[in-house]
Amino acid sequence: MAKFLDKVLFERSSHRGFLTITGIYHGLPVSIVAIGMGLSMMDFFVRETRMVVDGPLSIVRFGSCGSIGEAKAGDVIVARSAFGISRNFDYFRTPSDTHISDKPYILWRPSPADSQLTECVKSEMGKSVGDDHVFEGDVGNADSFYGSQGRIGTDFYDDNEHLIEHIHETYPGATALEMESHMLFHLAEVSTGADNSSPKSIRAACALMVFADRTGNSFISPERSSQLTNTCAKALFDSLVADMPSQEGLHPTEGSV
Ligand code: URA
Repeated sequence: MAKFLDKVLFERSSHRGFLTITGIYHGLPVSIVAIGMGLSMMDFFVRETRMVVDGPLSIVRFGSCGSIGEAKAGDVIVARSAFGISRNFDYFRTPSDTHISDKPYILWRPSPADSQLTECVKSEMGKSVGDDHVFEGDVGNADSFYGSQGRIGTDFYDDNEHLIEHIHETYPGATALEMESHMLFHLAEVSTGADNSSPKSIRAACALMVFADRTGNSFISPERSSQLTNTCAKALFDSLVADMPSQEGLHPTEGSV
């Protein structure tokens, strides 16, 4: 992705396992940060980035997902909102002791993506990937790749045979499952302004490559995945530039993204 930057200013691999490349794209300071997977990595990333960046911060997650909607392997899903899916550990105790919920999985309410930034991401993605390959919907952020994404196995008791059905019943717009976006949108929602009040200091959006089509049971090819990463990278940078006018107080090369 970094090859599309006009200039690279900084590069670092950290003990966290993050790779950060900071540069300039069309006058805008941009960092690409590879964080790995899961809620905790997203929590580290958002909180620690907020700590070291001055001014308004726009974060666009770009990652992979499994589709539980119309999108096929190799398509792109732009998140309208993201909700959490947690394993209800108490449900699995023997005997079962469920004081929070009597269901094996807890579905948290959705946190919204930033609507303007999301519009920019969707429009730039449409231009580069083709509107036919771009879908929009609500994304389920599971706390595991396996049990809480409804993957069935015999080595563990997961009681997840009806989970995807339950997700669709609860959130009819649910279209993808992955492991980071609810944490991102939630932290953006509770981010505080410079004086510890509103307006929020973080705006967030999310675009996902469909790696697995969970309905049709097909998978992205390595070729399509690297082609898509190339195409989407430029679209993501362009969406940050397109969103600039809505960023009060942020001027190219002065603020931080
Ligand atoms: N990432 C996930 O969390 N799930 C998938 O099915 C694919 C990518």
